[in-house]
Order: sequence, then structure tokens, then C-alpha cells
Amino acid sequence: MKVTRGCFIIVPFLILLFSDCIALCAPSSRGIESEHNLMPVPKEIFFSKGKFRVTHEFQIDLIGHTEPRLERALFRLRQRLNSETGIPLKAHGVDESSKADFIVHCTSPGETVQSIRADESYTLQVTSTQAQFKARTPIGVLRGVETFLQLLVFDSEGFYVPAVRIIDEPRFVWRGLLIDVCRHWLPVEVIKRNLDGMAAVKMNVLHWHLSEDQGFRVECKAFPKLHQLGSDGQFYTQDQVRDVVEYARDRGIRVVPEFDMPAHTTSWFVGYPELASAPGPYDIARHWGIHDPCMDPTKEETYEFLDAFLGEMADLFPDIHFHIGGDEVSGKHWNVNPQIVTFKRNKGMKDNHDLQAYFNQRVQKILHKYGKTMIGWDETFHSDLPKSVVVQSWRGPDYLAESARSGHKGILAHGYYLDLCFPAEKHYKVDPLSGSVPSLTSAQKELILGGEACMWAELVNEETVDSRIWPRLAAIAERLWSPSGLKDIEDMYRRLAVIDRKLEWLGLTHRVNSEKMLVRLAGNASVSHLKVLAEIVEPVKSYNRHRSRKYTQMTPLNRLVDAVRPESKRARQFSLVVDDILTESPGSERSKEICRAWLVKWCDNQDRLRTVLNSSFLLQEIMPLSEIIRSLAEAGLAALEYLERGESAPKKWVDQVSNLFHQPKRPKHELLIAIIPAIRGLVEAASSKSPISR
Ligand code: ACM
Repeated sequence: MKVTRGCFIIVPFLILLFSDCIALCAPSSRGIESEHNLMPVPKEIFFSKGKFRVTHEFQIDLIGHTEPRLERALFRLRQRLNSETGIPLKAHGVDESSKADFIVHCTSPGETVQSIRADESYTLQVTSTQAQFKARTPIGVLRGVETFLQLLVFDSEGFYVPAVRIIDEPRFVWRGLLIDVCRHWLPVEVIKRNLDGMAAVKMNVLHWHLSEDQGFRVECKAFPKLHQLGSDGQFYTQDQVRDVVEYARDRGIRVVPEFDMPAHTTSWFVGYPELASAPGPYDIARHWGIHDPCMDPTKEETYEFLDAFLGEMADLFPDIHFHIGGDEVSGKHWNVNPQIVTFKRNKGMKDNHDLQAYFNQRVQKILHKYGKTMIGWDETFHSDLPKSVVVQSWRGPDYLAESARSGHKGILAHGYYLDLCFPAEKHYKVDPLSGSVPSLTSAQKELILGGEACMWAELVNEETVDSRIWPRLAAIAERLWSPSGLKDIEDMYRRLAVIDRKLEWLGLTHRVNSEKMLVRLAGNASVSHLKVLAEIVEPVKSYNRHRSRKYTQMTPLNRLVDAVRPESKRARQFSLVVDDILTESPGSERSKEICRAWLVKWCDNQDRLRTVLNSSFLLQEIMPLSEIIRSLAEAGLAALEYLERGESAPKKWVDQVSNLFHQPKRPKHELLIAIIPAIRGLVEAASSKSPISR
């Protein structure tokens, strides 16, 4: 593995501080490019001298194997170059008279239905006169196209791609995103724009979570009451499913459906109560959590139904893998059904896990008949489970290790839950081969296919879902694609900021919708003061939103906590400025100025914001938060003064302001003030016996 990380120059973050305009980053002043914005970072990358200029003359030639999917990919490349540069590029194709600038050489057709063995490797060679890339399959071409687009920058003369040689292939074969379209409905266009985003960061599996207590989301011809009664009219027709599968294939992404069973099935029972373990009638569930309704695994009719249902769905979804969920079976309805209790006793089953294992074996046989490999969440793991079943671990790496030890292939989801609003850094540090996995033999490690980010949708809808997925998914994508040694968090965040902007060109709404929602919250007032506050707060982490109030499917997601982004970039920048001051780095004088400017801004903002907050029923809950931010900013300014004067801050004052640092676990507004750790750092430094010298 050779990554020329040694010669990267980290862009001084202060440049980024007041600027939001680095979609195409400014180049290094050195002749040889020493910094790039690639995410995921390729396996090997070597920059050399020269710049390949992108002008309206840009022409692409496809040689070797060609197919419509490749032509569409290159058409999209032109469109995206066009929209990202504003340069009207000539129509597709190469003039007879001229030589192509960009030669794409694909050597073979690849698979009709993409498998986990698909060859995604490619090489890219860019000189000042030509770009060439070579891949064994169309999937490799797709990956290379994204790399080329990410290399695009500009200088004083125009747009260019630096001269470079890249040899690239993924570390893991399974790099997925689960999208739950059941808790809140997400229409086809949301799925498509996220597929575009996934392709941009080289992810290759859409795990489509299609049935839940709160909704059954696919048209079913054999059992039409599933979608007719179980979805509030919000489901994908089979034509739409085929369209999404084709759209994903065009982008080198496999679509793995999940129909969760035997639990998480309330919506199935609205139309088909006879499948359930307890008598109906049933309604679509509207609240979240673990629900008791569960299929009856003891009735033959259940398997007859599932046989017809899975047969139909197996045809609709071409991927060989088929996810049956299997998580969170409460077992309560099994325990109170006398027939189920007798069945268990007669079969010598010691608990409900044994009964679930029986159900899973029956379902696996049906799927096998339809040519499918079954996947289940880690609760499906059992000594009786056929080894062909892939186990997806959401409860922790130990489960992944345990199932691999027993010979099951596995996928890690634990640590990649985007709905919990943790920072990108936390996800970036999770590696499918870390935790207890290192104790595995190399053959067992080979069974770990990769990882999957999960976008559970209890607290998102089509307006907010992109902001919870992006850009943090790019950090997970990198962990799953790039060499394992890649650990530089600062550089990850630098590139993540670039990707964050680039993704907007694909129509993702993670930035624009946040802005729109703030405008809606501010009403007729100016949004600028609300933005100042919104930039430095984050949603509470983990499952704490659910602990703050009772959410249901009907709860509007239109408050500040929904509008703000999971991770405050401003707070990160502020904390870097404070680190700079506290470590007395060479730029610390400038950092002090920046720090003061921000603190003054946050201090003054409160007065300006008061009227906006008071006049809105949605914003009144923020008033106390805004007051605390002002007090924090005042404390930060005072601490800065002490530091600059070289005085130690009085203990009484330190004790008093320290009260500001405790954030309630379950605040009504469900927000955290993200600048607190940095301000605490300033106050602690000011209170220390050895104050920082100027
Ligand atoms: C899960 O989060 N219950 C798979």
C-alpha cells in the first residue's frame, strides 16, 4: 500500500473559517500537487507535475468493451463536469479530426447481476495532455469516474485535474447504506438522489428496509392487502422498484431488500391478521419501539403465505441476497398463545430463540428454493442456523466475531448508525475488523464482508433525511473502501467539508433543506440571527430524543432540532482555534482574534434573536438555550482576557461559570450546545496556576 500521505499539506483550517466556498479547493502553490480532496482515498496515489485542463473541447473515447450502462455513465460524467464547471462541453463522442482527451478502456462486460465478487478496481493516469483509465469491468469504470470528478479543481487559469496516477480497489466487498422507508415514507426521488450520493463515495449496497410495524412499502400482487392496507397509500409500485434497481445498477450499487420478520410486522397484519400470533384486528403502528405483534411460526399457513410472498419478491429483486430482519422479537405474543406454547414443548424447544431459529430455518429453505442467500440481524444467529446465512451485527462487534467463529459471513452495522447523530469521527474510527474481531483466525476474518451505515427513519422524513446521511456517510464509505491505515481525523474532516459541498451538485438536499427549514422557523423575520445560533447546536445524541418526548409517525419534524445538522462544523472550527490558543501555536495571536470575534458575535446575537424566538411557537423553547449561549460566550471572552493578561481567573468566577457546562440529558429542545467543550477549555486554562503567556 502506497499512499503519498507524507507530503500532504493540511490546508490551514483558518482559511476555511470564514469561507464557505471551497467546493473546488484552491490548489497548492507547488508544482506538484500535494493535496487532494478524494474521499474515499484511493489505495495508491502518485502525483506528478502537470495539469490536465478541462475545457469545452473535452472529449471522451470509450474503447474495449462498451455497453449502454457505460455510455450512460460517461454521459453523466459530461453532465456533471458541465454543471460543476459551468463550461458547456461539446456533445458526447469524439470528432474524427481530433484525439480524445479522456480515454476509458473497459476490458470486459462484468456480471449481469452484480455480485459481491464484482471487480471494482481501476487505474487512472492523468498527464497534462490526456487522462486515461482502465478497468476490467464497467463497475471499475464507474468508480474511476467518481475519482476523476473529485480530482477537479481550479486555479487562476481555469479548471483542471492534476497529473496523477491512481491504482485503486476497495478493502471490503460490502459497503452499504440501509435506508428505512417505513417509519417515515421516502419517495423514489429521495432514494435516487441518495443512490447518486452513494455512488459518488463508491458505496455498493442499498439495503432497502421495506416493511415494519409502521408501514409495508412494496406493491405485492399475491397479497395486495399488504400494501393496500399496510401503507397509508405510501408504497412503491413494482415498476418503481424495478426502476430503482436499474438506477442503482447503473451506478454499481446492488439493492438488497429487507422484509423484517417474524416481528416488526404489525403492518402486515392489518390485511392478514391470520399470520399473527395473537388475534386481531390490527392497525398500522404509529409509535416507535419494540412492538409485540409477531408472526405465528407454528402454523403451516404462515409458510405457505411466505413461500408465495418471497417467491414474488425474489423475482422483483435480482440480488442474490435477501434480508429477513429477525431483530427484536419480544416473544410476548408467543408466550401467551397456548398453541405456540404446546408446539415449543412438543418440539423440545427451550426458549423463544429456539422457536425463532425454527422459523428462520423454514424461511431460509424457501429463500434457497428461490436462489437467494438469506441475511438476518444478529438475533438470527443460532447453532441450528445454516452456515450460508449472512449475519448482520447491529448489537456490537462481539456478535459479528461470534457468528464468524461459527462459519457465518458477516456485515458490521454497529457503530454506523447515522440516526444517532454522532460525529463523523466516531463512525470513522469503527472498523469491521476491530473490536473482538482481531481474535479471529485469518480464515474467519475473511468472512467479514464489510459494513453498513444505517439510516433508521423514526426521526427523519423526506425533508430531513439527506441531512442525517450526508456528509457523514462519506466518512464511513472511506473506512470501508480505503486502506486500514488511514487514520488522520483532521484530514478526513478537511475532505469531508469538500464532499459536503460537492454532493449538492447531485441534488442532495442536506444543506439546502437545513437552510429552508431555518427560514420557515424564522417566519417573516430575518433568518441570519437564528443561523448564528443554529450553527453551534446539534441534536442530542444516541436515543435521547426519544427520551425527551413521545414521538409518533404523526409528530411534525419541523423544530430547530430537525433543521440543524448532526455535527456542528462551526463548533469544530472554534475548538481548533481554541486548541491553537491553548497550545500557543505560531498562529495563536490570529486565533485569539478569531476566537474573540466569534465570542462577541454569539454574545450579541442573543438580543437580536430575542424577538424572533418570542414570536414563534416553534422557537420559544430555544430561549433558555440562547441565553446560556450568551453567558457561555461572555465566560469565554472573560477567560480569554485572563489568559491575555496572564492572570489566573478567581475560583469563585470559575465555579460560577462552570455551571454553564452541564448540559441536561433530556432538554426539552433536544439540542446540545456544541461550543461548550472549547469554552470549558478556555475557562480551565484561565483558572490554572500557570496561565498561558501572551
Ligand atoms: C435494529 O436496529 N433493530 C436492527
